[in-house]
Amino acid sequence: MIPTQIVVGAAIVRGGSVLAAQRASPAHLRGRWELPGGKVDPGETDEAALVRECHEELGVRIRPIERVGPDVLLPVRPNAPRALLRVWTAELTTGEPEALEHLELRWLTADTLSTVDWLPADLPFLDHIRSRLSGG
Ligand code: CDP
Repeated sequence: MIPTQIVVGAAIVRGGSVLAAQRASPAHLRGRWELPGGKVDPGETDEAALVRECHEELGVRIRPIERVGPDVLLPVRPNAPRALLRVWTAELTTGEPEALEHLELRWLTADTLSTVDWLPADLPFLDHIRSRLSGG
């Protein structure tokens, strides 16, 4: 059986805004924006990976709230397993996010959510996030 790599992303919401992060690497993704997150390790739950990745990338503790949107197929990379992106809304529990691995962080509102150049796999989640930011 060909394994599927799960990648998790956090829509960290605070006071009507969501945190977007600008990738520094790899070169072909540099400058594009994403929901912070990354690959789930073998034996790790999705939620644990989300908490771990946000701590590594942003220096904060988060609490996942709920899954939003579908499993989204990530662009196929040569010699890489099939990968799916899953997204949770989340809240900050400890700390203020810092761009430890990203170029820049930005808090976006429902109105400014589409003003950054999102990675394609993150686009299907934006309507779900926008409706939550608008109180929906
Ligand atoms: O940090 P780690 O190496 O575990 O994973 P990553 O490099 O952050 O993410 C793995 C893959 O998922 C990359 O190809 C990212 O472009 C993609 N990804 C994405 O499309 N959207 C996200 N919100 C997070 C990751």
